Amino acid sequence: MIIAIDGPAASGKGTLARRLAAHFNLRHLDTGLTYRAVAAALLAQGLPLGDEAVAIEIARHLDLGKMDKNALSAHEVGEAASRVAVLGGLREELVRLQKEFAATPPGAVLDGRDIGTVVCPDATVKLFVTAAPEARARRRTEEMLSKGQEAEFASVLDDLKRRDLRDSQRTVAPMRQADDAHLLDTTEMDIETAFKAAVDIVSRTCNA
Ligand code: CDP
Ligand code: CDP
Repeated sequence: MIIAIDGPAASGKGTLARRLAAHFNLRHLDTGLTYRAVAAALLAQGLPLGDEAVAIEIARHLDLGKMDKNALSAHEVGEAASRVAVLGGLREELVRLQKEFAATPPGAVLDGRDIGTVVCPDATVKLFVTAAPEARARRRTEEMLSKGQEAEFASVLDDLKRRDLRDSQRTVAPMRQADDAHLLDTTEMDIETAFKAAVDIVSRTCNA
């Protein structure tokens, strides 16, 4: 069983993916972390984010089990991740790792931008999770403040909108709702409500 979850930044897809994986006894991969890990390594080495040869080399040595979500959560790393994410050769390398993860029994939940369209086009269930930009910026601001990071609502909102635009307009694997994905708008939902709605969609699809 494979559950594919896509959606824009801070829509709640990661939280849902983690909870669905625990609920259905599946493994979970936050594919955003793979792009963040490559971007963070380039930043740490002071290399340009467009250096695709080095980016691919970093991706080849990536250990999915050793990606530190906390260390990769910085705002600048998310921004840098969406810049390296336009590189087609790098995406090929990361998608290969992600497909391998998905194909390992007993199945998995993957969240990202192109899971339902590119990584797992034959997923058992596909969700496209969205929320209004203001709701997402509010959540991301609160999340950053709670981690002791600096955050100001207006600039977080601007940054999210710019990143969403880059992610949805790039030529390679742009963020898009797959034709057979279920849309889940969580603007008015707390985490528990969104989780119940997602379990409902998965259960209905699997029993259909
Ligand atoms: O993975 P993604 O960037 O889409 O979002 P996330 O990391 O799951 O959620 C971003 C933040 O919004 C987290 O702090 C969640 O706890 C919060 N959240 C929320 O307040 N209400 C929801 N319905 C979903 C997430
Ligand atoms: O947590 P948040 O939703 O803010 O971002 P993320 O899921 O960690 O992804 C960071 C960046 O990686 C995104 O803005 C995308 O540019 C890129 N990404 C991608 O292109 N394809 C994926 N499957 C996952 C992330």
